[in-house]
Amino acid sequence: MPDLEHLLQNNRTWADTIKHQDPRFFEKLVAQQSPEYMWIGCADSRVPANEIIGLLPGEVFVHRNVGNLVVHTDFNCLSCIQFAVDVLQVKHIIVCGHYGCGGVRAAMKNSHLGLIDNWLRHIRNIYLKYQPTLDAMSDESERLARLCELNVVEQVRNVCQTTIVQSAWERGQKLTVHGWIYHLHDGLLQDLKVRATKPDDIPAFIFS
Ligand code: CO
Repeated sequence: MPDLEHLLQNNRTWADTIKHQDPRFFEKLVAQQSPEYMWIGCADSRVPANEIIGLLPGEVFVHRNVGNLVVHTDFNCLSCIQFAVDVLQVKHIIVCGHYGCGGVRAAMKNSHLGLIDNWLRHIRNIYLKYQPTLDAMSDESERLARLCELNVVEQVRNVCQTTIVQSAWERGQKLTVHGWIYHLHDGLLQDLKVRATKPDDIPAFIFS
């Protein structure tokens, strides 16, 4: 029988270390969470939200899916955004993509992987939208990198256009939406500078 005892042991060590540093750490978190940030990122195991921005439990509210997509009919993602904005009152929503994203690559190549093709169709549509620009790039890795960036910007726009964010801005709530991308090769984040703090800031696009 496969045993995951090593993971449970890791967990006990982790909890002990935290308690050693701050004996009341978990006690304080039980009372409430009040993160300032919401993270919308790729499900890729190499891009763990808390670790790469150096935040502890309680500090970032996370939603992840394949390709860091924000789809207007996805009630899972929308519910997370709504809870984060209306209830937790986060100050920032960070959409974070990453270079070398398998979901973006599959969408660009129109690969057939099964059910997930339907989800990746959203990225395929972004590729088709910017196809002349993308196809003009002779280097395939460069093309993939650009589509990873374009995907982040499109998802930032999608976040901004939700009724949730629009309503928050209308009632004067301070909320900034950011677009970042993560480099797998050195672990560094890059700000794509598509920041929006009001409807007028919504990135129209394009950086070709
Ligand atoms: Co990915």
